[in-house]
This record gives sequence, C-alpha cells and structure tokens, in this order.
Amino acid sequence: MCGIVGYVGFRPAAEILLEGLRRLEYRGYDSAGIAVIDAGEISIRKKAGRVQELARLLEKHPVNGSLGIGHTRWATHGQPSDINSHPHVGGNGEVVVVHNGVIENYSILKSHLQTLGYVFRSSTDTEVAAHLIAHEFSELIKMGEDPESSNTAIQAVEAAIKQFKGTYGLGVLFRDIPDFLIAARLGSPLVIGMGQGEYFLASDAGPLAGHTQEVVYLSDHELVVLTSQGMQLHHRDTGKHAPDVQVLAQAESGSGLNGFEHYMLKEIFEQPETIENAMRGRLDEDEATAKFGGLNLTPQQLRRIDRIVLTGCGTSWHAGLVGEYLIEEFARIPTEVEYASELRYRNPPLSTSTMVFAITQSGETADTLAAMRECKRKGHPTLAICNVVGSTIAREADGGIFLHAGPEVGVASTKAFTSQVTVLTLLALYLGRLRNMSYPAGQRIISHLQAMPDAIRKTLECHDQIKDIAQRYCDYDNFLYLGRLYNFPVALEGALKLKEISYIHAEGYPAAEMKHGPIALVDERTPSVFIAPRGHIYPKVMSNLEEIKARKGPVIALACEGDAKLDQLADDVVYVPFVEEYLQPLVCSIPLQLLSYEIALLRGCNVDRPRNLAKSVTVE
Ligand code: F6R
Repeated sequence: MCGIVGYVGFRPAAEILLEGLRRLEYRGYDSAGIAVIDAGEISIRKKAGRVQELARLLEKHPVNGSLGIGHTRWATHGQPSDINSHPHVGGNGEVVVVHNGVIENYSILKSHLQTLGYVFRSSTDTEVAAHLIAHEFSELIKMGEDPESSNTAIQAVEAAIKQFKGTYGLGVLFRDIPDFLIAARLGSPLVIGMGQGEYFLASDAGPLAGHTQEVVYLSDHELVVLTSQGMQLHHRDTGKHAPDVQVLAQAESGSGLNGFEHYMLKEIFEQPETIENAMRGRLDEDEATAKFGGLNLTPQQLRRIDRIVLTGCGTSWHAGLVGEYLIEEFARIPTEVEYASELRYRNPPLSTSTMVFAITQSGETADTLAAMRECKRKGHPTLAICNVVGSTIAREADGGIFLHAGPEVGVASTKAFTSQVTVLTLLALYLGRLRNMSYPAGQRIISHLQAMPDAIRKTLECHDQIKDIAQRYCDYDNFLYLGRLYNFPVALEGALKLKEISYIHAEGYPAAEMKHGPIALVDERTPSVFIAPRGHIYPKVMSNLEEIKARKGPVIALACEGDAKLDQLADDVVYVPFVEEYLQPLVCSIPLQLLSYEIALLRGCNVDRPRNLAKSVTVE
C-alpha cells in the first residue's frame, strides 16, 4: 500500500514522478503528491483523491527541477485529506519525506518531538519521520557537521531510522543538498532504476519501464544514496557494498486497456491466455507429469515431504483452498491452508518435512511475507507461487513457480486467481506422479488441462446473459454464494468479488452448511448463487437448492451445459462447459467475476479502484 517514486537527473522531474504515480496508483488512491527541489527551494504539490487531481493541480501550478519524490497514498494514520497527503516536511522545511509502511512507535516519537518544539500539521506517522530526520540533522550541525554535506544527511537518516519500530520504504530530500536523494527500506519494497546521468526510485518496477531496464532491488536495512552520477548502497550491518544489478525483461505488454472499459474486464477476458501461460512448458506428456524450473528441491527431497502448508491472504487464500483439495486428492499429502496473518503469529507445530507455499499475486503482501519468513526461520523449505517477478516474496523464497499472468492492474484479483489454481493443479499432478499416481491418470489430467483455455473461452460467452442477470439483481443488498467441494472456495471467491467492488454484503458457504445458520437470512430479497455443475455430490447440492427455494429465496445457478433440471428449479441459470470436477473452479469463477463486475457498474462503483482498498497490502 502506498506507492513511492523518486527521480534525480537532468530532466524535468515532475512529469516523470507523475507518470510513475499513475503506474503505482493501484497501491493506493486516497491522495497523491510530489516534492521537487530547484535552486534550494522545495515545491510541494499534493491533493486528496486520485493522481488525476494532482495532475490538474500541477497544470495550474507547475513546478521546476530535476530532483524530486512522489507518493500515492493508502491511508493508515489520518484520514485522506490534503494535509495528510505526502510528501511531508520536517523541521523548518529543510527535509521532505515520502513513506510507505507504518511507524508503530510514532506516538512516543511524536510526543518527544513536540516537547522539543516541533509542530505537527498532519495526523500521519510519516510527519514524525520527517521531523525526526530534521531533528537528527540539526543535532549533527550543532556538533559541527557541514549542513551541505551529504554525509551529514546520511547520518541523520541513519540515526532516525534506528529509532523507528515498524516498516518503512522512505524517500528523503534535503533542501540544501542539490542532486541528492536518499531512500531506505525495512519491510516496504523499493527498487532503483539506473539510467545514464539519472536514477529512479519506485515501489515496484512498473514506473521504471520505458526509462531503464537495469534495476537494483533494495533489501531490508539497506539505505541508498542516489545522485545523477551514481548510487551508493549501505547495509546497516555490513556497510557499503556493490549493487546487485538485475536486468528487467522488456516491459510486459498489455498494461494498457486494449479497448476494454476497465482493467478488471480486460483481465477477466485475458484468462484463456493467462491459463495457457501458466501451463506453458510445464506439461510433460512423455512422463505424464508436470515440470517446473524453479522449485529448487530434488524429487528425492520432495518425496520426503509429509505435509504441506499453503498460506496467503484474500483471493490467494481461496486459491490455496482449491490447492488443498487438489494436493490431497492427487498426491495424498496432508495439506492445510493458513491465513498468512494468523500463521505469522500462531506457531503451529510443523515438522522439518513440512513444505510451505506462499501464494501471492503481488509478492509484497506484508502478512504473507512475514509468514514466509517465519517458516523459513524454522527451517521449512518455503516456496512461492507468485505473479510479480522481482517482488520481495519471489526473491526471498527458497524456490517457486511464477504465474506468468502479466500485470494485474484491477484491484479485484481475477486472472491471478485462475492462474494460481492452474499452477496448483500442475503442482498436485507433479507431486502425485512422484508418489502413487498412475501414468494413465497423469495423462488424463494433462489432456483435461490442455482443454482448459478453450473451455474458458466458451465460458466467457456468458457475458451478455450475465449483464441481464446483473440488471435484475443489482438492487439487492445481501447475497449468499453456495458451493460444495471444489466449488466451496469458488463460493468464497465469488462473494469476495461482489463485496469488494459493489459494496454489497455477500457470504460464501459450503452449500450444506447453509442450514446450520445462514438459512435464517433467506427471504425474497436474499438471492443465493449456487455453484452447481455436475459432480459426484450433485444430488446433494440440488437438495440444498430446494431448501432455499422452499423459503422463497431467489436462486441464480451455475450449471453444466445440458442440465435441464436446474432450468426448472433456479430463477436464472448460467451454463458453463462440462469439465472435470477438479477443474470446475477455473470455469465457475468466471461468471462470478463477470457478475460482480456488471453489478458494480450498474451501482456506479469504481470497479478498478474500489473504496478503501489497494492492490498490494504492504501493511499489517
Ligand atoms: C481480492 C484481492 C485480495 C488479494 C490479497 C492478497 O480481489 O485482490 O484479497 O488477493 O490482498 O494479495 P496477494 O495475492 O498480492 O498477496
């Protein structure tokens, strides 16, 4: 959450910062701001609302200079407002700061600084960082250090960050030190882009595309000094060291809207290709198994694994639930799915033969990262199923599998979910074939998987029908989503999609659990979405559906093509192609993504930027 950009070089900084903030807006869109330094003067422009508001402000009140920092905010401390927007100045305006993360001990530090006479204008934790750096800077000057020396500035930042408890990605400028930008990281991602006579700073590689392909990812406890002529890295424990320069792949295509009205819709329609990309080069027809390049564990080591823990948050956690069913069915390895936010503090008994998978689209989710680190600390092989190459989780994991889904820009995750499920299916196949799964069973799974991109293309044809259904149901305030076995996680995911982008209350349940409580909610104004394609407990799901109908609950059903029975029972039926039960989450999640999208549109919601949310949740 929150996006940071920075620039030092020879070009007008404001344009570069603004474009960078547009690319980081998915990380937060409560406010945006930049600070640019020119001839010893800091100009700040900041505004509550989207980056577009900042762009309008800059049109009216442009700023000059080739050194600057910028920020797009997801509010943690202090409501979204102009005053609480970053950048924040410290002292008497000699320091300016942008920050991503949470300074947990900010109130103690704030009281201390107030007793020293520092005046706070905002209610943010970041202003504490700005004043503390300014304070340390002035203390060093009192001790005779040179106020125009970069060494004094570095010492001031180091002294301040030593006092922070919590997380930070910081960008700091000093009014009187030209051509000089400091950034520091603990827990919040930062990447440096290296140009010719110019350097860039950003929370992820997105803003660097088009400027440079040479990047350096900052690690925790690292501080970097950028000037137009070079960079210097300092680690808290090991001191100065040479940067590990990595070359970004050519900017991934497809970051535009390609004619779609919203990113979410574009990403829903990309799924035939993204599912294909998740499988590309990973199906081994000769051996009737899957293969992966980056697990970094030998088949012998994998055979010794006797338990698997899948961890993640939100949609990624839902994908993990599908993964649990798949791995237990195909590989017969006991598997659990843990919320990363719980796992990081829970300390469950895990043996050394337990393997942990962190599932994450962004690779930056703070809880997932912390859970992964905790498991690594205890010596478990810890792998990642991740979309963003170069993200912190991808870099820190012992190995893993990339989704190759391309950038997911819409805040509501869609294509990442189906890619995660596809990768987990491949993983279950691979682990199964290392154990008891037969050759013909492996072959069957491969041929079913190969048919999936076409099945998804066919499923997407329901879009017009979904638009009609959305018209009929967009005014309802409560929904139930019900499914069993592989479709229970789909019910959870369908309910989450509706909640997050249309702000309608929705609950997902295993269909049979409904009679243990939620059925009390059912009435003419509470539609139930039944995920009911054919499977071995289809008759049981039908009984659950009848129970809802008997209480006058409207029913929208997802059914397999040719299921005439459901036509008579449900108020609306969306037909999806027949696929094997274990692949139903891939086809069934698609009409539910479209339903939430269409309902949100009809209710006038911002589908790509839903309120209160951000794409990458880098705070606890
Ligand atoms: C929902 C959604 C979130 C994310 C969750 C984890 O549509 O996007 O629930 O799934 O914040 O994010 P990642 O997968 O990036 O770790």
